[in-house]
Amino acid sequence: MSKTQSLQFARHLHPTPLPADQRAALLKNPGFGRVFTDHMVSVRYHESKGWHDAKIEPRAPIPMDPAAAVLHYAQEIFEGLKAYRTADGGATLFRPEENARRFQQSAERLAMPVLPESVFLEACDLLVKTDRAWIPDGDGSLYLRPFMFANEVFLGVKPSSDYLFLVIASSVGAYFKTDAPAVSVWVSTEYTRAAPGGTGAAKCGGNYAASLLAQAEATRHGCDQVVFLDAVEQRWVEELGGMNVFFVFDDGSLSTPPLGGTILPGITRSSLITLAKDKGIKVREERYSIDQWRADAGTGRLREAFACGTAAVVTPIGTVRGKDGEFRIGNGGAGLRTEELKAALVGIQRGRAADPHGWIHKVF
Ligand code: PLP
Ligand code: COI
Repeated sequence: MSKTQSLQFARHLHPTPLPADQRAALLKNPGFGRVFTDHMVSVRYHESKGWHDAKIEPRAPIPMDPAAAVLHYAQEIFEGLKAYRTADGGATLFRPEENARRFQQSAERLAMPVLPESVFLEACDLLVKTDRAWIPDGDGSLYLRPFMFANEVFLGVKPSSDYLFLVIASSVGAYFKTDAPAVSVWVSTEYTRAAPGGTGAAKCGGNYAASLLAQAEATRHGCDQVVFLDAVEQRWVEELGGMNVFFVFDDGSLSTPPLGGTILPGITRSSLITLAKDKGIKVREERYSIDQWRADAGTGRLREAFACGTAAVVTPIGTVRGKDGEFRIGNGGAGLRTEELKAALVGIQRGRAADPHGWIHKVF
């Protein structure tokens, strides 16, 4: 399949989109992932036909056969990216080509067909253009959720012959509900997220299903997120349930766990590495153990830690808790380095700063 295949999207626009006053009420305080726009985009795939039946239509429940493969064997992948409102009344996406490529890599790992990058981008653009009124002002954004699932009606265990790719959009504010200046994390020693050779580097629903019990344990211990350690030695910090992690040291340098197949190659992570290097900040992609984290927080060698991802943006980590007790990082709130990197990233994402790496994709 060519990388630049183009499909004609049929347009069935909503006859009765939500009235502006009701939409405005929803956009006042949307939270994360509960407010959805009027439309959705979809493309079908069948092994005999390839990609076909591309369309935009009113967002609605999708009819599914109870024997659809995804409901049994979880052959499903997804992406997450944000559209921002610009000062000139337009809209932009941040590095959507990277999401398209990661979607292709996730598809390969899950034995699914590879969606051409151009179709992924066209689908996202079309939804943002159509539902532009749903992009919140201020600090909010329109979170796009492209996803694809196995739709063959068959209970045999094999890659499906039939798939549905969809993009939905949700008007969002901050991911974390807390008003605290930093989040708290729970170190899971009971559960792991991904083993070597597994699906840790793919963005597939199954990874998140497997993380829920650990996340529930984190919540029970009063923490906002779970931190996973490596599955082999139960020693090396990997990532959070839905974010990558960075550490900031007393010499101003940064470190983040290396990509080795068991963590998600975050686009925010890679952008922050580039921005830090632009500023002359040293960044190491190296393993960091939970024991070293605790020891360095105690001596003050570790000054800050933060989580990063599309949903979380850059969020300081203030407290680390686990079965051996808890420790605080720095003053337990936001640190200067974290704030500096966040400002650099958000400045580019929101069009307030120059875009030297060409990361901004103008939708209209
Ligand atoms: N790690 C996990 C498990 C995630 O779910 C996410 C969110 O997408 C990330 C890391 C960060 O990835 P990105 O920065 O591409 O959003
Ligand atoms: C994202 O940041 O896009 C994610 O998928 C993470 C999830 C916790 C919402």
